[in-house]
Amino acid sequence: MNLKNDLLLRAAKGETVERTPVWLMRQAGRILPEYRAVRNSVSGFIELAQTPELAAEVTIQPVDLLGVDAAIIFSDILVIPEAMGLPYEMVEKRGPWFPNVVSSAADLKKLRIADGVDDLSYVIEAIKITKKALNGRVPLIGFAGAPWTIFAYMIEGSGSKTFSKARAMLYTEPALSHQLLQMITDSTINYLKAQIAAGVNLVQLFDSWAGILPPNHYEEFSLKYISQICDAVTEVPKTVFAKGAFFAREQMGKLNCETIGLDWNMGIAESRKMIGANKTLQGNLDPAALYGSPKEVEAATVLMLDQFKGTRHIANLGHGVYPDINPEMVKVFIETVKAYR
Ligand code: CP3
Repeated sequence: MNLKNDLLLRAAKGETVERTPVWLMRQAGRILPEYRAVRNSVSGFIELAQTPELAAEVTIQPVDLLGVDAAIIFSDILVIPEAMGLPYEMVEKRGPWFPNVVSSAADLKKLRIADGVDDLSYVIEAIKITKKALNGRVPLIGFAGAPWTIFAYMIEGSGSKTFSKARAMLYTEPALSHQLLQMITDSTINYLKAQIAAGVNLVQLFDSWAGILPPNHYEEFSLKYISQICDAVTEVPKTVFAKGAFFAREQMGKLNCETIGLDWNMGIAESRKMIGANKTLQGNLDPAALYGSPKEVEAATVLMLDQFKGTRHIANLGHGVYPDINPEMVKVFIETVKAYR
């Protein structure tokens, strides 16, 4: 199927574009009343994510309501632990919670490498329905968590400020850590390939907890596995977003991927220098900038665009959009990017 709007894919590959494409991390859900209406019709996030027709509906909402240049499939990074044998719950207002965690070799033995098609058939089905309904209007982005971030949740069992259990494991059980990271990596490659076979046009890896590792551990326990995934998944362009990994930008420039996501702490000119000219950069407006007035949101967006001007760029925030942001301000952000030349 030919895409009517392929700006995102062309920008990712470094081809010329008429204007900068724009989408938002975490655009599906959270901020839209239309999302909450669908979510309130079911028992909660997990039922919504596991009902392909509804997952497809909320995936497309931001395309219709906000005018973004891409859809991102509605799911979560934590479907991988579940598919490996470690189920999660989503606790209202608190976030993910795992009844069981991995703390020993015996726990590891109970896990398996996930097969993307069979173990995650509900995501694959949602992708197929979404592709049909989008009818080529915009590209569909698939995604997965980076192995380190998934590992952090599987060891910790929930969100955490420090992820100290997960980081302790890297020091006390490095061999066990590598075994689990390799299982997550193999599962993720299977999963991304299944997403691509079902129709996603680009994939993004979210390393949300990159920034809590020291540089040597980041290289050994995270980048090594991201690099394996980038080398294995060759069918579509790849984006690597490693939140807080300012210290690893030079190495990320050497990954076998097209796009590197920047968070809002990373200077744009400095990042370009470290990463090099041969990657597209994605980002990186401070998500809190959207709390401003329309004039302020526009000014902050232009300031960001000016710094990327003339280089390979996909406009986005520096992390996911905050749940209490007014959708009207998201529209100001998007419209400002679309009008910019
Ligand atoms: O980007 C999109 O809009 C697509 C859907 C998407 C979700 N989660 C849906 C979701 C994506 C890409 C994610 C990624 C994700 N999930 C990450 C990486 C990105 C990041 O923010 O760093 C992480 C760390 C998670 C784990 C997770 N899922 C947490 C910590 C939480 C609770 C807090 C929160 O962010 O809302 C979730 C729940 C979740 N994932 C919701 C949604 C729409 C909210 C659930 C609800 O509707 O109650």
